[in-house]
Amino acid sequence: MEALRSKYSNPFSSFFFFYFFSAVFLIFHALPTADAKTHYHDFVVQATPVKRLCKTHNAITVNGMYPGPTLEVNNGDTLVVNVVNRARYNVTIHWHGVRQIRTGWADGPDFVTQCPIRPGGSYTYRFTIQGQEGTLWWHAHSSWLRATVYGALIIRPKEGESYPFPKPKRETSLLLGEWWDANPVDVVRQATRTGAAPNVSDAYTINGQPGDLYNCSSKETITVPVDSGETNLLRVVNSALNQQLFFKVANHKLTVVGADASYVKPFTTSVLMLGPGQTTDVLITADQPPARYYIAARAYASAQGAPFDNTTTTAILEYESAGCPAKCVVKPVMPAMPAFNDTATATAFTTRFRSPRRVPVPNNIDHNLFFTVGLGLNNCPPGARPRNCQGPNGTRFAASMNNVSFVLPSNFSLLQAHQQGIPGVFTTDFPANPPVQFDYTGNVSRSLWQPVRGTKVYKLKYGETVQLVLQGTSIFTAENHPIHLHGFDFYIIAEGFGNFNPSRDTAKFNLVDPPLRNTASLPVGGWTVIRFVADNPGVWLLHCHLDVHITWGLAMAFLVENGVGELQTLEPPPADLPVC
Ligand code: C2O
Repeated sequence: MEALRSKYSNPFSSFFFFYFFSAVFLIFHALPTADAKTHYHDFVVQATPVKRLCKTHNAITVNGMYPGPTLEVNNGDTLVVNVVNRARYNVTIHWHGVRQIRTGWADGPDFVTQCPIRPGGSYTYRFTIQGQEGTLWWHAHSSWLRATVYGALIIRPKEGESYPFPKPKRETSLLLGEWWDANPVDVVRQATRTGAAPNVSDAYTINGQPGDLYNCSSKETITVPVDSGETNLLRVVNSALNQQLFFKVANHKLTVVGADASYVKPFTTSVLMLGPGQTTDVLITADQPPARYYIAARAYASAQGAPFDNTTTTAILEYESAGCPAKCVVKPVMPAMPAFNDTATATAFTTRFRSPRRVPVPNNIDHNLFFTVGLGLNNCPPGARPRNCQGPNGTRFAASMNNVSFVLPSNFSLLQAHQQGIPGVFTTDFPANPPVQFDYTGNVSRSLWQPVRGTKVYKLKYGETVQLVLQGTSIFTAENHPIHLHGFDFYIIAEGFGNFNPSRDTAKFNLVDPPLRNTASLPVGGWTVIRFVADNPGVWLLHCHLDVHITWGLAMAFLVENGVGELQTLEPPPADLPVC
């Protein structure tokens, strides 16, 4: 089911075809797309019994696999994925980090670029990978289904091109996830009903397995084989729903070479920190005595006093030359993990990223935007039942950007409403600045804690340049937020703690070699500045990749208008686009 289905099944074996295709090859091989391929896949979304930690539940999976199938392509290739929904929930699939140039209809967030695929329905996603190399991933973008509906999307260089580092001996994807003993959709539904914070997960996982540090999980461990001396590539993805994670391999150094499907200037570290949505490609050399070493991940939990899953997931790096006592009796070596609140380690890591060389950072900014990012509490509406107001002091949890708590439409997707001119679905008044200025990271007056609900977008003309200051707030509690932008990669030109101060902090902007990402780790009680060019027409969600925060409204959308001519215009919607 994962195989690349050849368009040419080759029933002919005549010289004519050989010469014909040779001639076609000679004519076209100078074009960059000459050897680009199209990969066809079927994704059947279905309930599948999955047993973890001694409990079985009917998890929603793709093709019965948890995690789902790995897609492997080359830069320039096209993917055609027919998604059939045999589950009892609405579903959509998002190709996290894929630019989707002119193909916004294939981006996937429900009610933003498409109506969900209803149970029994199907939809075919078609898109081309353009100028991206490294590791991305795909996941459900509807309710909390991505807890089990996700997989890796590996993009290798074009045929005949190579990595900008020595070719690794082996490549392994490590998807970090989160497992609930309960059904994750029930967990979020209960939280939405009560207004309280949802339950935290019961385990973290690596490639779907918790590892052997949990009760009842001794056989549930992934092994990563290595040979002494070889250098391998690990593609680490944080697919967890609600938790930033530290990642280490005992006794081994990691050389970071890429993140979010862009290469970075290589640097060596012993620990990674990834927010949900982020990917990090690292080289690891098997330079230790042959034995077994734990690969481990645990929470980076920055919100003071907030409950979190304080467990550790493991896999095992196993030297193939290690003999039996080392392999079968001796416990693997465990890395010393950072403390859950070790912001210094997280920051030291995230601020080391650079692009490999000088990059074209947009200058002459058309839109200077400043968005506050954080939590809020809604007072209970008069007449509401106490059981629906179980947030702090009888409130309901909320979250917002610039005090707008994002509400998804229900009759049309935002992209449909925009493209077909359907009124009343959204407004274009998302504010460029917070409606009130205050000490964002100080002791915020309780009167500023209640956001307004709305479906507001911010309009951009094709090709305009954007600088966006993301400013965390300490409303209810300050916390690190992984902020993800659909449809674009952006440069992270600076970050810091406290309130962004233009007269002081502009001097810190890296306009030479900042990293290109699709998800920024907004420091706890701090700020991040990103820049991008609005060169992709469509409607693009910007949101916190902690699903609990999207549920509470921590999102907004950019609407990028068509430019001039076909190449700057959104493609027409596919005929099988689901209706609401
Ligand atoms: Cu990876 Cu809007 O998501």
